[in-house]
Amino acid sequence: MRLNRKSLAAVGAFTLLTACTSSEQASSCPQSEGQISTDVARFSPSDVACEDIPRSLALLEPMPATHGVPVDWRTRPVLSFDGDNYRAAIPIDDGTTLYGTGEIAGPLERSGFVTDTWGEQPYREDPPEGLNPQEYDDATPRLFQAHPWVLGVRADGSSFGALADTTYRTEIDLRNGIEFTAEAPFPVIIIEGDSPQAVLTKLGELTGTVELPPLWALGYQQARWSYFPDTRVKEIADEFRARGIPCDVIWIDIDYMDEFRVFTFHPERFPDPPGLNDYLHSIGFKSVWILDPGVQQKEGFFVYDEGLEGDHFLRRPDGKLFTARSWPPGNSVWPDYTNPDTRAWWQTYIPDFLDNGVDGIWIDFNEPSIVFPLGTPTPEDLVHVGGADLPPGTHARYHNGYGMLMSQATHEGMKLARPGKRPFLLSRSNYIGGQRYAAMWTGDNSASWDHLYWSVTMTLNMGLSGQPFAGPDIGGFFKTPTPELYAHWIGVGAFFPFSRTHTIQLSPPQEPWSFGPEVEAISKAAIERRYRMLPYIYTLFRESSLNGLPVWRPVFFADPADATLRTEDHAFLLGADVLVVPVLTESDPHEFNLPSGIWRDFRLVGEDPSATPSLPVLKLRGGAILPVGRIVQNTTEALLEPLTLIVSLDASGRAEGILYEDDGEGYAYVDGDYLLTTYVAEQTGDTVMVSVATEEGDRQRPERTVNVTVVTDDGAFDGSGSETTGITVDLSAESAR
Ligand code: GLC
Repeated sequence: MRLNRKSLAAVGAFTLLTACTSSEQASSCPQSEGQISTDVARFSPSDVACEDIPRSLALLEPMPATHGVPVDWRTRPVLSFDGDNYRAAIPIDDGTTLYGTGEIAGPLERSGFVTDTWGEQPYREDPPEGLNPQEYDDATPRLFQAHPWVLGVRADGSSFGALADTTYRTEIDLRNGIEFTAEAPFPVIIIEGDSPQAVLTKLGELTGTVELPPLWALGYQQARWSYFPDTRVKEIADEFRARGIPCDVIWIDIDYMDEFRVFTFHPERFPDPPGLNDYLHSIGFKSVWILDPGVQQKEGFFVYDEGLEGDHFLRRPDGKLFTARSWPPGNSVWPDYTNPDTRAWWQTYIPDFLDNGVDGIWIDFNEPSIVFPLGTPTPEDLVHVGGADLPPGTHARYHNGYGMLMSQATHEGMKLARPGKRPFLLSRSNYIGGQRYAAMWTGDNSASWDHLYWSVTMTLNMGLSGQPFAGPDIGGFFKTPTPELYAHWIGVGAFFPFSRTHTIQLSPPQEPWSFGPEVEAISKAAIERRYRMLPYIYTLFRESSLNGLPVWRPVFFADPADATLRTEDHAFLLGADVLVVPVLTESDPHEFNLPSGIWRDFRLVGEDPSATPSLPVLKLRGGAILPVGRIVQNTTEALLEPLTLIVSLDASGRAEGILYEDDGEGYAYVDGDYLLTTYVAEQTGDTVMVSVATEEGDRQRPERTVNVTVVTDDGAFDGSGSETTGITVDLSAESAR
């Protein structure tokens, strides 16, 4: 029977939707109920015609069910329809804690909160006076991205994930178990796993993983709205080099454009973009330039003329072009990225744009949001034409997918334009699965201590929602941080997977040296720590590209069955081996719940976090070897000359660590041009032997100096192994393969 909303409304206020279980039915429709793979099942409203269940944008491919869901399947949603909305209710066991839900401000643990997934511009506000940020929910309803996904961790540490597989606006209510509500029918995909890690790896198999980024995109980055004219960009770059503060990327915001028209350059402010980029490259900088989807509606503007000719812009139901204000004067129109021809048309502008020496692209306002007046909703009845495997649909259906489709178009365009280079793309809006096209930043935040804390919890929850490449505007976009706040933000911010300072137009300077010599020294040390850790961070990104695990991980990943760790959201793990313990509060010290076992303090640049609380304490897991490089000014310099292996032995005197190396920017690694080394350390008496246990890849091991530092319980670090108290390091063993 085909279920239609009116007839259901007549039936009653609440109708349970039966789900099909037979393998015959399961295979007839790509979205129908059934088991998709080991530990993954889809639950679909069987009373709804297959064509009325929207195609998944999240999944890499349709993934039809292979057979019915086994009767003993543990987590079963109850699907229903109340005449207006479709609902999926998922009961949870006592002791289960909930995470994910994407880009949401507030504490890490999401149990008890309601999230409305609908991308829109208005910035994330400060909590009303007197409201504890731990209780903050509907005071911060704003999201730029949509991740209708919840990760559950049961009392015993086993885990499950629930994905409402729809781009329609979805309410995620976690006050009593999990409840997803949307106006159109949707399937729910349930992933089961022994651990949260196992569930996230499955999520990566279903929705894709981040592509290994170019190494430079993992360096520190400096932005503001806007550095202009071009001479100002050069001054900022020069200043970094003069002050010896490492930095890889300068960001170019909207003022480079001619009247804010996409794919144009302002003739006076940026008369020679290739010249500017040549200069930046000559001193080891890359540049990332912004694009917005709004195209000025002006005859004679090539993007408008050509887009109109190809019928690439969104229309209203009456067939008229949808026009509103973006950045350019007068009206703008918006490409309909659901149309594959439109995506291909958008891509035609990218080669010329990149030919100016542009290294990376930043796409913004792609919820999409109207710029003037801010907060104007995009009408939900706009018509998307779709194409290929996407059927036509309303904006209500495609709104949450708009940023992802723009990301897809831009990412693929960058690859076509420069087949030999890994693209770096940052997008403000996206949808679950969008990690396969773009990194994300958490949008327009504010210079407050609450926002500093949320920047940590949001980055963690993005990682738990499939997006490892995330970070905030360090220092805050709106308002101006105090020197103390900036110092704390850059202290922890140097470790964000995506690490960039950014601020709003006309705000006071927000470069690391803008807050006086003391904060400059702290910022320098913070950023130098990141550069020393880059070999490890790059190794983590490679791991994430293969297994979907986040780069930043909540501390409960160290022991998912330890209930005391479930709400810890000031400290976090960088990978599995490094515990970062920052100070995120101005007063009211946070009481940390840290994982048990051996975690030894280590230092990287001679810093002393006990004297400089804005620099987080770093701890290395007993049993881990951390590969670190030297302090460089940018990633064009050789990081690993020398390579230092920081060893933290476990109780049995053993440790292990992995280092991934390749050329840092191309695709030769796909054909084997990489080196993956597993180092092992073993203590015998007073000697620690370090050796290469396994190696993989065709890349030649470079000739280089290798230092070994063994971190001891009394905290000896940073230097060659021979300085370490009580233990002799046999350096010669390192080179024995
Ligand atoms: C939006 C972006 C912000 C950018 C500004 C101007 O507010 O979120 O990062 O600086 O637009 O392009």
